[in-house]
Amino acid sequence: MLNIVVLVSGGGSNLQALIDAEKNGILKSGKIVKVISDRESYAEVRAEKNNIPFERVVRKDFSNKEEFCDKLIDEIQKENADLIILAGFLSILTEKFTKIYENKIINVHPSLIPSFCGDGMYGLKVHKAALKKGVKVTGATVHFVNAITDGGAIILQKPVGVMENDTPETLQKRVMEQAEWKILPMAAEYFCSGKLKIENDVVKIKED
Ligand code: GRF
Repeated sequence: MLNIVVLVSGGGSNLQALIDAEKNGILKSGKIVKVISDRESYAEVRAEKNNIPFERVVRKDFSNKEEFCDKLIDEIQKENADLIILAGFLSILTEKFTKIYENKIINVHPSLIPSFCGDGMYGLKVHKAALKKGVKVTGATVHFVNAITDGGAIILQKPVGVMENDTPETLQKRVMEQAEWKILPMAAEYFCSGKLKIENDVVKIKED
């Protein structure tokens, strides 16, 4: 059983999907041992309700990103984390952090990377950009995290159709329900059960 630490900033619906996956056996090779939030968030309530230890490490309490990330590294090392999941985590990690945990950090992004991603593209901004461009299909991506924002190797993607009357909010909801909440737990289980291997920056999923 691998130790998973989940980093959050917001509503925590992706954290909830991971908790539910653990309960219903979709995520069976790993266990969420800690939730860390970089601000006050509803995700903390979800952790508490499910008896998962949580810690708040507030970005604003540190004078720079380096000190903040060093504190995160300390907390994560205490848990002997094998996998770090960014589930709606809004702070950008330092290169030091991504190096220490190279190929051990995964993130869920609400578009089909490489569309609508990179610095400053998060939350509703992603869906606004997709609607502005008029794409007919969007979706979600789970990827490894490296020093480039949304630039790590892609693990799983799931497409979601865009409807003519979509608003950023309706699209966000559909992408979460139909894609993010499904592929994030699935990718976590693939990782924890040793099914992922990276060859030339491309993820291969080993067959059973
Ligand atoms: C999700 O859309 C996720 O893809 C993005 O931020 C949002 C977080 O939602 N990175 P939640 O906090 O998991 O509800």
